[in-house]
Amino acid sequence: MIPHMNRGINIRGTKIAPALLIAPMAGLTHVAFRELAAEYGGYGLMFTEMCSAKALPSENPQVSAVFRWRAQELPHLICQIFGADPDQMARAAGRIESEGFFGVDINMGCSVAAICKQGAGAGLLKEPGRAAEVVSAVRNAVSIPVTVKFRTGWQDAPEPAVDLARRLAAAGADALTFHPRVAPDRRSRPPKWDYIRAVKQAVDIPVFGNGEVFSENDCLRMLADTGCDGVAIGRMALARPWIFAQWTQGFVPSAEIYPHCAHRMLDVLEKYYEPVNALRRYKKWLVYFAANFTYGHRFATLVKGAADIPAAHRAVDAFFQSDPARSRTPNMNLFR
Ligand SMILES: Cc1cc2nc3c(=O)[nH]c(=O)nc-3n(C[C@H](O)[C@H](O)[C@H](O)COP(=O)(O)O)c2cc1C
Repeated sequence: MIPHMNRGINIRGTKIAPALLIAPMAGLTHVAFRELAAEYGGYGLMFTEMCSAKALPSENPQVSAVFRWRAQELPHLICQIFGADPDQMARAAGRIESEGFFGVDINMGCSVAAICKQGAGAGLLKEPGRAAEVVSAVRNAVSIPVTVKFRTGWQDAPEPAVDLARRLAAAGADALTFHPRVAPDRRSRPPKWDYIRAVKQAVDIPVFGNGEVFSENDCLRMLADTGCDGVAIGRMALARPWIFAQWTQGFVPSAEIYPHCAHRMLDVLEKYYEPVNALRRYKKWLVYFAANFTYGHRFATLVKGAADIPAAHRAVDAFFQSDPARSRTPNMNLFR
């Protein structure tokens, strides 16, 4: 248990408790996964998948794959946007505020070439002046919290990240989530947590540390070692969406939670997506979930072969029939 987490953290005058976030993940933190995670509870805020700022003002939530939500989650949901044009980002933020989201988050971490080429995502880390302009435009457009999720930058040193953090705070950001990896590194090297400490010391707004928190002990260590105000958890939230309740509410998961969760994810996906899209999203998620098991690759292969949703349910049953051995820490071959 991490009881002091429940004291929470203040973001633009609103108390968020516990100070644990489910980090944004494209193709994964969709409305269906968020419903599943909300059933377990115990987190402070969640993020949508990243949404294009250009497309957002005319997105129809009835049909959009990413700009979609349940009304009851809005008070705890931040919509993440990507883009590089301050006016476009401000317009998108206006729509997000009018829909009733808790806040708007600006993506300064995505290093996919197509996004960086537009100067967006981690592309903004190359132009700190523009990054600050974007924050300032968004800040002026809305009164809800404005947050930024960013990475170390394009060179492996803390100074540019510290400098950027100061500029983002001065431009009006209300909180930062910092993932201390260089932009082109797709999680192959460990994140440098000492950079989180440097960023935290540089600003007086809340800083959420992020990167390879896989256990309660990791979480406590990140808080103690870096002094960060809270922690954002990505892949482990996919693998064990109940860890938030476990770490903050003393929830004790039983062995049955694994097959139950694997079936339940299919059910929630079916509520929101056409069968083909639901199954595609399920297979993407299942790789992270399978990392809970020593022979998780067998699980992933079984599900990958499923031609439809009933076949995916049967694959889950077949895997759990063998009483699979669980691994205490995630199977890193599946967790990249
Ligand atoms: C499949 C995948 C998709 C991601 N998509 C996004 C995204 O859209 N926006 C973002 O800011 N970060 C994104 N991230 C980064 C995560 O939010 C997080 O920073 C990273 O996974 C490290 O945290 P973890 O070690 O707890 O997983 C993504 C990560 C993964 C694994």
